[in-house]
Amino acid sequence: MLSFLHVEVFYLLALAALPATCVTQHCKASPGDSTWPSINEWNSLNQSIHGTLIRTAPAASPCYPGNPFGAPGNCPTVKDHWSYAAYHAMWPESVDYSIYANNSCVPPGVDGYSTDKGCSIGGLPQYIVNATTEQHIATAMKWASDRNIRITVKGTGHDLGGRSTGAYALSIWTHNFKHIERKSNWRLPGTNTTADVVVCGSGNNWGSVYTAVHKMNRTVVGGEDATVGLGGLIQNGGHGLLSSHYGLASDQVYQLTMITSEGERLVANDIQNQDIFWAIRGAGGGQYGVVTEFVMRTHPVPENVVAGGFSFYPSQNSNASEIASWTALAEVAAHIPDLMDIGYTGTVMVRTEKKAISYPGQEEESYISSAIISLTGFNITVQRMNDTLNKLVAQFDSEHVNINIQALSSKSYWSSTKPNPMASASAGAVSLMTSRLLGRRELCDIPKERLVTYLQEIMVSNKPNGGSMLLFGLQGGKGTAHVPKSRHGSVHPAWRSAYTHTMAYGVSVNATGDPSQSLKAGADWLNAALEPVWQKWAPESGSYMNEGNPFSSNWKHDFYGDNYDRLLEIKHKYDPQGSLFVWSGVGSDEWNYDLNSGLLCRV
Ligand SMILES: Cc1cc2nc3c(=O)[nH]c(=O)nc-3n(C[C@H](O)[C@H](O)[C@H](O)COP(=O)(O)OP(=O)(O)OC[C@H]3O[C@@H](n4cnc5c(N)ncnc54)[C@H](O)[C@@H]3O)c2cc1C
Ligand SMILES: *[C@@H]1O[C@H](CO)[C@@H](O)[C@H](O)[C@H]1NC(C)=O
Ligand SMILES: *[C@@H]1O[C@H](CO)[C@@H](O)[C@H](O)[C@H]1NC(C)=O
Ligand SMILES: *[C@@H]1O[C@H](CO)[C@@H](O)[C@H](O)[C@H]1NC(C)=O
Ligand SMILES: *[C@@H]1O[C@H](CO)[C@@H](O)[C@H](O)[C@H]1NC(C)=O
Ligand SMILES: *[C@@H]1O[C@H](CO)[C@@H](O)[C@H](O)[C@H]1NC(C)=O
Ligand SMILES: *[C@@H]1O[C@H](CO)[C@@H](O)[C@H](O)[C@H]1NC(C)=O
Ligand SMILES: *[C@@H]1O[C@H](CO)[C@@H](O)[C@H](O)[C@H]1NC(C)=O
Ligand SMILES: *[C@@H]1O[C@H](CO)[C@@H](O)[C@H](O)[C@H]1NC(C)=O
Ligand SMILES: *[C@@H]1O[C@H](CO)[C@@H](O)[C@H](O)[C@H]1NC(C)=O
Repeated sequence: MLSFLHVEVFYLLALAALPATCVTQHCKASPGDSTWPSINEWNSLNQSIHGTLIRTAPAASPCYPGNPFGAPGNCPTVKDHWSYAAYHAMWPESVDYSIYANNSCVPPGVDGYSTDKGCSIGGLPQYIVNATTEQHIATAMKWASDRNIRITVKGTGHDLGGRSTGAYALSIWTHNFKHIERKSNWRLPGTNTTADVVVCGSGNNWGSVYTAVHKMNRTVVGGEDATVGLGGLIQNGGHGLLSSHYGLASDQVYQLTMITSEGERLVANDIQNQDIFWAIRGAGGGQYGVVTEFVMRTHPVPENVVAGGFSFYPSQNSNASEIASWTALAEVAAHIPDLMDIGYTGTVMVRTEKKAISYPGQEEESYISSAIISLTGFNITVQRMNDTLNKLVAQFDSEHVNINIQALSSKSYWSSTKPNPMASASAGAVSLMTSRLLGRRELCDIPKERLVTYLQEIMVSNKPNGGSMLLFGLQGGKGTAHVPKSRHGSVHPAWRSAYTHTMAYGVSVNATGDPSQSLKAGADWLNAALEPVWQKWAPESGSYMNEGNPFSSNWKHDFYGDNYDRLLEIKHKYDPQGSLFVWSGVGSDEWNYDLNSGLLCRV
């Protein structure tokens, strides 16, 4: 009897076996599996999506004998452009930080290249949909989910934690979703009020949106780099020049359209699909589905924009100078919230040891540290900013700290947002960092000596004298705090009391080593050396996932806070097969992605 039942169950499963997903597979499919689709099946997928399927051909393939994947272009061009973010964005498969694609095919001589590695598809997706319609995306995602195939999503490939690539995946490339349309009287769903919005395809980058809205005498809250895409930036929050005035980019979204891994098209806003609308505005990005369109609020162009700042460094190679410069840094950090409340935004960039920059007359050995404070003020005069800066530096020990005040200038807002794609040349290296959202509690309400200690502890490096960089982004403050609760998505609640998004770059990763081992070594060091500092300094706070440590051992708390459980329910509802996986993603602990085998398996 028992064995009869067993046979019957087997028979039922066999009937359902095309496609074979009734059984929960242990791992996502890979090309060696019997369930991996045949060439004919890929061809029929291609036909059903109007010939938009691309077999991955790594950009650097022409650098290898015989151009094994027949990619267009030539090796010197690829190599010359490898450090430009805009270049990787042009290619269907390329990502800025190739270590997350297992350095599978990189041009000779760049970071991550090793002589014995060769060129393979390896950690890159196997196939890519060069989608131009929502139908292409829906058909391809359903097809892949039905066949237990991993799905990845690429907009620009700029992700700093490798979340837009993945081995054995079918990648959805949103590059061609480039429409931008202004609707100055767009009715807010469920109300009789209207707002001035732009309706933007998710494949746009900020450069194209800023350019379009500039022509309309409006602006939007977006990122500070023209080459960054809407898709990834908005879905995890998104900060920029105006976030400290109007809130995060995700706070400006009134509606979005998303295709699920089951091939369903959802329009999400305040009155329909509210759960996904909430989840995507904070915890999205390659996790819940593919967003094709955002409807975003526009704002008037800021007037009376003034830029300026100052830098300082220890005046001598002495303990007294070193102490004085750390004290000056703590002084600056403690003043950030007040500066932001006046209306300033900008960055404070600190570098130590080998990462410190030199100043005229300084001996190389004396690069103990350097700090650059760059501020932009809106609705402000040059005199007012000058007073602010003079007052701040007056508190420094000028005997032991050298201060250079930068010339102040008023400028047009457009000069700060005007795209300069060649400016973004940080691609092609290794990216790994950790970050924290800090507010008055962490910057102002603690004794200055303790602040100095935290600053010193977060700026340690895993390389002797390697030095570190610490970047305070003045991006929260009144802007994120005053966003009405009804517009909050699922971004970490700590944004509502944070003033700075603070990034620490003390970890150096062996680029030429085995990628999974090198990343693990870097992550282990971060988890042992830097994460505990944040936990002590800002235990209740969190981290901005777009610029955070994708391997943080405390990732649920740090990236999602109290929102996690609800986000997990929504993840299971819209991506029941777990087709979409990203490191530190919601529910990512149900899976293990092994960069070495390329397999994504249930734990
Ligand atoms: C040079 C540089 C400057 C930066 N400056 C800023 C800044 O000023 N402010 C800021 O907040 N951040 C900034 N960042 C961080 C940035 O927000 C992240 O790198 C972000 O992931 C970029 O999104 P993307 O769509 O361009 O990248 P991608 O690598 O294409 O995508 C990032 C993630 O989003 C997913 N994704 C992309 N598009 C979609 C879509 N349509 N639907 C579903 N998932 C999608 C991908 O799967 C991936 O998980 C910067 C990064 C770089 C490299
Ligand atoms: C998909 O079809 C188009 C048009 O027929 C063809 O050019 C392309 O090579 C096909 N893609 C794959 C992966 O075969
Ligand atoms: C990743 O790189 C390592 C080391 O170079 C290699 O052994 C491994 O096969 C690669 N894995 C994939 C999936 O490309
Ligand atoms: C992707 O599609 C667009 C629009 O059809 C086309 O212009 C472009 O050449 C395609 N890119 C690739 C790499 O196939
Ligand atoms: C919008 O206006 C219409 C017509 O005046 C009215 O019937 C409706 O109740 C209003 N809706 C809301 C949400 O205020
Ligand atoms: C742009 O808009 C502002 C209001 O936001 C207005 O004062 C200004 O005159 C407009 N400029 C042009 C050129 O239309
Ligand atoms: C700084 O102080 C330490 C002891 O605290 C001492 O060993 C070192 O020589 C001093 N360095 C300088 C440059 O004075
Ligand atoms: C500048 O001031 C005007 C008028 O008070 C205000 O509406 C606007 O939001 C301010 N702009 C910024 C960027 O603070
Ligand atoms: C800024 O302040 C300094 C010091 O008081 C003064 O010398 C300088 O002229 C001021 N510059 C402007 C533009 O106000
Ligand atoms: C990096 O890894 C490579 C390969 O494992 C090794 O040969 C090299 O010594 C490592 N470099 C450093 C600085 O650890």
